[in-house]
Amino acid sequence: MRQGVLLVSWGLILQLTLLLFLCFSKCHGGSLGEIRGLAPQISPSENSEPFLPTLGPSPMMPLTPLTNGSIPALSGLCTLNFSAVETLFSITTTDCWTSFAPYLANVVCCPQFDATLVTLIGQSSKFSGMLALNLTHSKYCLSDVEKILTSRGANVRLQKICSIQSANLTEASCPVVSTDAFEGRVDSSRLLSACGKIDHVNECCDQVCQNAISDAAQKIALNGLPSLSGAAVSPEHLTRIDDCRNIVLRWLASKLDPPSANSVLRGLANCKINKACPLVFPNMTHVVQECGEVLRNQTACCKAMENYVSKLQEQSFITNVQALNCAASLGTKLQKANVSNNLYNLCHINIKDFSLQESGCLLPSLPSDATYDKTSGVSFICDLNDNIAAPWPSPSSEPVSFCNKTTKLPALPKATSAQKGIQMQNWKVPLFMSALSAIKLLLL
Ligand SMILES: *[C@@H]1O[C@H](CO)[C@@H](O)[C@H](O)[C@H]1NC(C)=O
Ligand SMILES: *[C@@H]1O[C@H](CO)[C@@H](O)[C@H](O)[C@H]1NC(C)=O
Ligand SMILES: *[C@@H]1O[C@H](CO)[C@@H](O)[C@H](O)[C@H]1NC(C)=O
Ligand SMILES: *[C@@H]1O[C@H](CO)[C@@H](O)[C@H](O)[C@H]1NC(C)=O
Ligand SMILES: *[C@@H]1O[C@H](CO)[C@@H](O)[C@H](O)[C@H]1NC(C)=O
Ligand SMILES: *[C@@H]1O[C@H](CO)[C@@H](O)[C@H](O)[C@H]1NC(C)=O
Ligand SMILES: *[C@@H]1O[C@H](CO)[C@@H](O)[C@H](O)[C@H]1NC(C)=O
Ligand SMILES: *[C@@H]1O[C@H](CO)[C@@H](O)[C@H](O)[C@H]1NC(C)=O
Repeated sequence: MRQGVLLVSWGLILQLTLLLFLCFSKCHGGSLGEIRGLAPQISPSENSEPFLPTLGPSPMMPLTPLTNGSIPALSGLCTLNFSAVETLFSITTTDCWTSFAPYLANVVCCPQFDATLVTLIGQSSKFSGMLALNLTHSKYCLSDVEKILTSRGANVRLQKICSIQSANLTEASCPVVSTDAFEGRVDSSRLLSACGKIDHVNECCDQVCQNAISDAAQKIALNGLPSLSGAAVSPEHLTRIDDCRNIVLRWLASKLDPPSANSVLRGLANCKINKACPLVFPNMTHVVQECGEVLRNQTACCKAMENYVSKLQEQSFITNVQALNCAASLGTKLQKANVSNNLYNLCHINIKDFSLQESGCLLPSLPSDATYDKTSGVSFICDLNDNIAAPWPSPSSEPVSFCNKTTKLPALPKATSAQKGIQMQNWKVPLFMSALSAIKLLLL
């Protein structure tokens, strides 16, 4: 590993760090909305002082898992085997680290929290024979898991941030709950050979494992019902299939060792997150006014556009593929509002402008977990080289498919991006340094 202090993006890192520190002190466990508008105007010299005491690894901050060996008081009423997923608890704690959790929620934290819960139930089913918890049991278990994670430094509002409720640990409407019933209905060897190990790069397009999961979910959803051959599928039936998908995942997680289960579940989650843009688009009236049908004043139009994009930058870290989706969504929305000029070209909007902060950090399409180290705190890998122009969608054509091999697209997930920390364009951005002046980028 090569290390170097880089002067590029110094301002960015300062801003980013301050933003997160501000959030740490002002909205510890709070929502994104609370810091809206704070970011761009921060001047380090004026604002850094009051925050410094909370920056460093002080004894007040739980920087390492269970630093003082304390174990939170648990309900004693959850019979799941927590020790089976101990390693996943550690990964989840770092991925959902206090003030970071809201910014990494969609891409890293929630998929990891979810994978941990699925694996926990799956592993425990080896002893209980059950692939779901009843509602009472699920309340105790979810609360216990949350206590364990937050005692180590995870965000205290994890359930809310990730919209997970105790009902998510039950069978919901899926009619198959026991391992025996499951294995009696599903071709488990086929499922295991399709999903025992997945190719993180190709799975999203080939859908080898995803198809096997859908088939299995459909089979168990039909338990006791006549087969629906081609007939219109009711919404209830679709919900049931969705609920059964969770049962399938838990079964899968019972057949694999916890790290492998986690890797498969995260791979599947990556396919899902990269299909959409997780950003919320605010009111674009002002942009439409300045840039609409007839472009009267380019400066004013780009000012409005930059202002608009800066609001998107306060939301969260996104992957490069998500950024392309966001560019396409916003472009389509603007076109629908009669903005015909290519505003991305006109105003020099890059795909990384859609991620948190001005000269943004885009995560790789196969995002790695956040990591913790004593000196630099929590870090994660950014793909700062994705400095490419945002593509303005063509109004006539279909939405771009990332699986269409003939489509030439920038920033497609490449085979090498599956390798954590190997690519030259990956930068580790350490945050939570002991002092602002010590901030540096580590070049891998
Ligand atoms: C360990 O930390 C917890 C939570 O911060 C605290 O409640 C507890 O008193 C500490 N235990 C010891 C032995 O310091
Ligand atoms: C819990 O899981 C651990 C690790 O997988 C295993 O060694 C242990 O036997 C399990 N305990 C129970 C009660 O299932
Ligand atoms: C719920 O599950 C727990 C643990 O398996 C069991 O002890 C309890 O009796 C169940 N409660 C109900 C209402 O079925
Ligand atoms: C939990 O269940 C709710 C209600 O069914 C659903 O909207 C939500 O997406 C689920 N969360 C996860 C992480 O699956
Ligand atoms: C957007 O803002 C404009 C003016 O600020 C307002 O008239 C309009 O109702 C808003 N639209 C929505 C959907 O909130
Ligand atoms: C265009 O807009 C900018 C900023 O709003 C303003 O300063 C400038 O005078 C305008 N130019 C023209 C030609 O109206
Ligand atoms: C877009 O322009 C067309 C034709 O000028 C007009 O009919 C339509 O109402 C406009 N749509 C919006 C959303 O302004
Ligand atoms: C792939 O993209 C090319 C060019 O954009 C298009 O002609 C073709 O129909 C697409 N194929 C599929 C399967 O979508």
